[in-house]
Amino acid sequence: MELMNIRNNTYWIRGGTNTGLYVFEDNTALMIDVGLGGDRQEKILKILKDNNISVSYIINTHEHEDHIGGNYQIKKEFPNLEIYASKRAKVFIENPDIYLDYLTGGRRSDILVKEVEKYIQKSVTIDHVIKPGDILELKGHKFTIVECSGHTEGGIGVLTDDKVVFLADLMVTENSLKKFDFLFMSDFASQIWSLDNLRNIDFDIAILGHSSGKYSKKETLDIATSNYKALFRMLEFLLNSLNRAKTFDQLIKDFVDKRYLVKNYIAFLEYRNSLNAALAYLLDSDVITYTLNNNMLRYKLRNIDDIKN
Ligand SMILES: [Fe+2]
Repeated sequence: MELMNIRNNTYWIRGGTNTGLYVFEDNTALMIDVGLGGDRQEKILKILKDNNISVSYIINTHEHEDHIGGNYQIKKEFPNLEIYASKRAKVFIENPDIYLDYLTGGRRSDILVKEVEKYIQKSVTIDHVIKPGDILELKGHKFTIVECSGHTEGGIGVLTDDKVVFLADLMVTENSLKKFDFLFMSDFASQIWSLDNLRNIDFDIAILGHSSGKYSKKETLDIATSNYKALFRMLEFLLNSLNRAKTFDQLIKDFVDKRYLVKNYIAFLEYRNSLNAALAYLLDSDVITYTLNNNMLRYKLRNIDDIKN
């Protein structure tokens, strides 16, 4: 792991989750997503020390543990730093148990708590709430908060004045899609909107949360198109499946069977969230409906008889 320059004051530290760094003239920095807690943060702290950089600000793009898990370790080393996040992410970052309840759809089990404790040592307080469209002025430099909702409902990205944009988990690489053909997603409509909105952002280089690549605007828009298509393959799967009424459990089995996805408890809950988000989109668009008979909840295409004829 090393500190690598992207352009002018904008740097990154690559890893399982990438960390963005904007280094100010006084050798203090803004960190964009610190990454997992534990060893990774020890390594990052060493890199910062070796480069004589202290941290003044952190922006958390969203609440997932692989992006925010190390907040506490960085805050402990630099107690005066201020942390920024969206309103929705703030709720989850400050209360990881609420995030786990959300994931479960009811009270979390200790299985989940233990799993996440590995990655988040302690929660931190978010000092400032930010939203897309905001422009932060920090030490004479402007940072524009951009829309990245979809993957999570309050997801944000950060555009630096070097025209580098950090897009976190708004989209995955084409390689990842080839392998898994899946996007973790909490809000289907806003994911489409955020991908579409990329063309309106004035950037030259994009950095994703989980890719070692640096992408030009054209490359970024091409990746966005691939993600867009993947989202519609998900809808296509649902529409084809729901020509007969199906329970959620039937749907998720068919969905996971068709993809090379990791099959563990947490991953399953996350796939369920994504599928629920797509179902909500179709329900709200009046394309599908649900039936509740004999205590069985099923989804199906609307007016299926009309479609058949
Ligand atoms: Fe994420």
